[in-house]
Amino acid sequence: MPFVAFYHTHKLVVTLFVLIYLVKAILLLLGNKEALARFNKLVKIPEMVISLLFFATGLVMLSRIANFNTLFAIKLTLVVLAIPLAVMAYRKASKVMAVLAVLLLFSAYGLAEMYKAQFAKKHEVTNVVTDPQAANYDLYKHGEALFKAQCTVCHGDDGKASRSGAKDLTLSTRSDAEIVALIKNGKNTMPKMANIYNEQELKALVAYVKGFR
Ligand code: HEC
Repeated sequence: MPFVAFYHTHKLVVTLFVLIYLVKAILLLLGNKEALARFNKLVKIPEMVISLLFFATGLVMLSRIANFNTLFAIKLTLVVLAIPLAVMAYRKASKVMAVLAVLLLFSAYGLAEMYKAQFAKKHEVTNVVTDPQAANYDLYKHGEALFKAQCTVCHGDDGKASRSGAKDLTLSTRSDAEIVALIKNGKNTMPKMANIYNEQELKALVAYVKGFR
């Protein structure tokens, strides 16, 4: 199963998971024990399936993650803490614990978004001639420096790595315009890098990316 399938399944089940906990927390806060019991019964089986998919897809993606850094470690810790806390909250009918668990889950979600945003933030290059008017300017070298700064984290030095679901660039058949569009708009886990490159940089990246073929 391709990474992108895990990614979309994970996103869907995480959303459902958080929604279920949110409804439970609200019912608990309202002190509506009857409705909470009814809701618990209603979601019992779906919740089991959702939790299982949540962990399974999460584990698969974790094994192929591009950059396991502190931010991601904190996100993971929050999720791991939130779940037993939520289970205990409903067992003990503790409002404080239920709210805390929901807060932890939302924070984890926020951190996941921050983690993704890191890839879309431009890493400046200083070790290469970037002025196309300069006599020693080399388009391919310019592209290489940009690629190493921004793209190898997923695509690897040889363009073949498939971290975070990246596609093998040696097998790519995309046109120049398609490559530019992909960099600007992103796709699945490929980040959207809309406004970080000027025309020259895009040209250089295209030249370098096509060099892998
Ligand atoms: C966070 C990981 C990540 C980063 C960083 C990243 N990519 Fe990607 N890239 C992907 C993924 C995932 C795909 C596959 C998208 C899809 O089609 O589902 C992809 C696909 C591509 C493709 C298309 C391959 C094909 O023909 O199907 C090109 C070209 C490409 N990336 C270039 C780049 C360039 C250039 C950069 C840096 C500016 C970059 N990528 C940075 C993850 C990444």
